[in-house]
Amino acid sequence: MSRLLIVGGGPFQLDLIHAARRMGLSTVVVDGRAVAPGLAAADHGEVVDIVDGPAVVEVARRHRVAGVVSGASDAALVGVAAVVDALGLPGPSSAVVDRCHDKLVAARAVRAAGLPCPETEPLPEGAPVEAAIAAVGGFPLVVKPASAAGGRGVSLLDGPGGFDGALAKARRHGSGALVQRRVRGRSLGVEAFFWRGAPVEAFVIEDHYARPFVSPVGHGVPAAVEPALAARVRAAVAAWGAALALSDGAANFDLRVEGGVPTLIEVNPRLGGSSISQLIRAGFGADPAAAAIACALGRSPLPHLKRRAQRAVASRLFVGRGRGPVRVQGDPLAPWRGGDTLELVLDVAPGAPAPLAVDEFSLLGRCLVAGPDLAAATRRAADIARAVEAAVTCPEPTGEPRP
Ligand SMILES: Nc1ncnc2c1ncn2[C@@H]1O[C@H](COP(=O)(O)OP(=O)(O)O)[C@@H](O)[C@H]1O
Ligand SMILES: [Mg+2]
Repeated sequence: MSRLLIVGGGPFQLDLIHAARRMGLSTVVVDGRAVAPGLAAADHGEVVDIVDGPAVVEVARRHRVAGVVSGASDAALVGVAAVVDALGLPGPSSAVVDRCHDKLVAARAVRAAGLPCPETEPLPEGAPVEAAIAAVGGFPLVVKPASAAGGRGVSLLDGPGGFDGALAKARRHGSGALVQRRVRGRSLGVEAFFWRGAPVEAFVIEDHYARPFVSPVGHGVPAAVEPALAARVRAAVAAWGAALALSDGAANFDLRVEGGVPTLIEVNPRLGGSSISQLIRAGFGADPAAAAIACALGRSPLPHLKRRAQRAVASRLFVGRGRGPVRVQGDPLAPWRGGDTLELVLDVAPGAPAPLAVDEFSLLGRCLVAGPDLAAATRRAADIARAVEAAVTCPEPTGEPRP
């Protein structure tokens, strides 16, 4: 039986572990935390720090794994890439992971290839910021950490007010801060799969926003993109993938369609987070987790990416302002269970802070909703979010000022 190494054993990796089992593989899972649920779910679970490349490689060699993969975790990609490099397996190499994880390096690589990606400049500590701001065309602009995820540390600024606060917020991530031209236009995501250096499938996903939360709070499929735009998005994904040398595996792209031109915001050489795999499975009957595993084993992912259905499905995060202990009134999920609600989860326990947070916001839970069309599914997902967010509050602990 072939053995697959899954780097990271958190709740969001369980999908991969189950897919591997369905594919008849034996699973080796590593995670630094002994309580990670994936360790118990695996055939062989080992407590190993996932960013300790040599330690992850040692496990891979000892188990003679045939492939290595991770879900939506950026940290886990460090371990994945170390194994890809050391054992010569298909997947994102350290060069690819490092390039994508530094948004300045990625933007420079894409722009050097003549492809659409916003002007991006570093904001080194102690250096004046005016030249960098001018180089990206002035305001409106975006200040962000060179490396982070989930919108953490990202600020969209219309004018100079708040620049210093935005810079301090971006720098808190320790990866350096960048300033970037603010790209206008519709926001789309693409869940793409590369095999032997070429893109073999690309699912286009609508992004839904609820300001002031900076990242999408929701996603929807099928995206309402006319065939000509879909073709331009696919061509852009292929060109960006070539510029960044993406070769085997999933890649999640953020883009905006500016003046009809798909323009890259960022790409991560892994499956998308935020329930994207569940969304694609519910919307198209395809199996992104199995496809990512096939790529990792050097097999074609295409059988797992076949569109067996087309259904309108929207996902939505529940987001609360504040990072304090969570209070829940009644059972806010009760009215929404059943029917077209495919998934409905609170990720918080009353009395404790939310386990996941983005800057001053707590992530409270999520839902996945089907509908007769995407607008209806999106409305229902937003209605659920409004009701849950009204019933679940997470104020700052008393006495602590808001950041
Ligand atoms: N240059 C930009 N122009 C317009 N919007 C942007 C830009 N950069 C980021 N954004 C918005 O902010 C969100 C988060 O930024 P992103 O760089 O994707 O950070 P993360 O890696 O944390 O997801 C994006 O989804 C997008 O909506
Ligand atoms: Mg993003």
